[in-house]
Amino acid sequence: MNHFSTERLTAERLNESHLADLVALHLDPDVARYIGGVRSAETTKAYLDVNMAHWDQHGFGLWALHTKDGAFAGRAGLRHIMVDDIDEIEIAYAFTRSLWGRGFAAEAATAMTRIGLSELALPSLIGIVNIANGASRRVLEKSNYLLERSTNRHGKDVVIYRIRR
Ligand SMILES: CC(C)(COP(=O)(O)OP(=O)(O)OC[C@H]1O[C@@H](n2cnc3c(N)ncnc32)[C@H](O)[C@@H]1OP(=O)(O)O)[C@@H](O)C(=O)NCCC(=O)NCCS
Repeated sequence: MNHFSTERLTAERLNESHLADLVALHLDPDVARYIGGVRSAETTKAYLDVNMAHWDQHGFGLWALHTKDGAFAGRAGLRHIMVDDIDEIEIAYAFTRSLWGRGFAAEAATAMTRIGLSELALPSLIGIVNIANGASRRVLEKSNYLLERSTNRHGKDVVIYRIRR
């Protein structure tokens, strides 16, 4: 679970060595647009701590992704999230701007969905996406998630997609 790889990506359990790459990723306004906005280095450090603790507590979480030539590609994973008082597992992903549009997110999402449904035997996974985030919606659709409903979350209009085992 700490590592997996796909045709073009390697994934490593998030750890302290990924901090600088995560800080840079979260400082890019294009990347941050639909995921809560640009984050300071301090906020990303806290984010890293929370997500490392998630691994310790649950045995899964976010991975740092690299292309096969070793370049940082982004972060993605599976994590607990409360939605209307229900404990769900969401799929999450954010990629370096220069790599968008090459199918990397769908490649990672497909692999993580298999891990969630088959290896972790979770009954279902959800994706929560800003209604205007067309690229992310398309990633979920390409990974066979179905649109479940739209709702408002933290003041934003979002759509919830789901895939079942
Ligand atoms: C969303 C994100 C992960 C997509 O990564 P990616 O590697 O470019 O995704 P893929 O190449 O696998 O697929 C993107 C798909 O969306 C399509 N797309 C791109 N922009 C789109 C838009 N504005 N509207 C609709 N579809 C769009 C692409 O054409 C592609 O579909 P296709 O393969 O059928 O042509 C990337 O844009 C990102 O990191 N965004 C910032 C973080 C973020 O928003 N994460 C998701 C939070 S829910």
